[in-house]
Amino acid sequence: MTQDELKQLVGQAAADYVNANVPEGAVIGVGTGSTANCFIDALAATKHRYRGAVSSSVATTARLQQHGIKVFDLNEIESLPVYVDGADEIDHRGAMIKGGGGALTREKIVASVADVFVCIADASKRVDVLGQFPLPIEVVPMARTAIGRRVAAIGGVPVLRVAKDGTPFITDNGKEILDVKGLAISDPCGLEAVINAWPGVVTVGLFAQRGADLCLLGTETGVQTITYAKH
Ligand code: A5P
Repeated sequence: MTQDELKQLVGQAAADYVNANVPEGAVIGVGTGSTANCFIDALAATKHRYRGAVSSSVATTARLQQHGIKVFDLNEIESLPVYVDGADEIDHRGAMIKGGGGALTREKIVASVADVFVCIADASKRVDVLGQFPLPIEVVPMARTAIGRRVAAIGGVPVLRVAKDGTPFITDNGKEILDVKGLAISDPCGLEAVINAWPGVVTVGLFAQRGADLCLLGTETGVQTITYAKH
């Protein structure tokens, strides 16, 4: 199977999971990226079961609305039974690197409200140690260089993310992203706390303190369901 076929497989598996486990009339938290898009497309078939969704990006909002799925502002919602999203890497504890698509801040906010975080990923995303994929950090632009120095002090190589036209990539929140290469992250929770404390950091793309509860992993032999201890 191609990577795209594996993404479709887990997107459908996540829709099946939500249909089987989430009560009718609920609002669903929805992530961002190509795998999350497969979930949105699969969920569209049963959209009438749900009141709507809370979105983690402008792109996801557009895709949900194209399918006629109502998008709620998170401020209108008291609880989310589930949040479904992809990942750039996931380890054996359910800790993830996310933000390859630039939506890390809203993803972390929506995930923080959800009762259950379901990660959907093809098998290439499963790693022993996080960090081969560059770790995104969303930063306030005036703090970019100062944060870059702190990154270098812990052994990372910060690279400012640029858009196709060569200008800095700007997130949905009007901020910039440093992609950090060269880290082997043995303590994801600890590093998340350290980077979160640096002035000017909006969000670090380590999702460890609130990691996944469940991963639907697309493999050559089908979808593997992995559950993780509570965080
Ligand atoms: C978006 O900012 C990311 O966190 C995505 O969830 C992550 O990059 C996975 O994306 P794909 O499903 O496109 O690989």
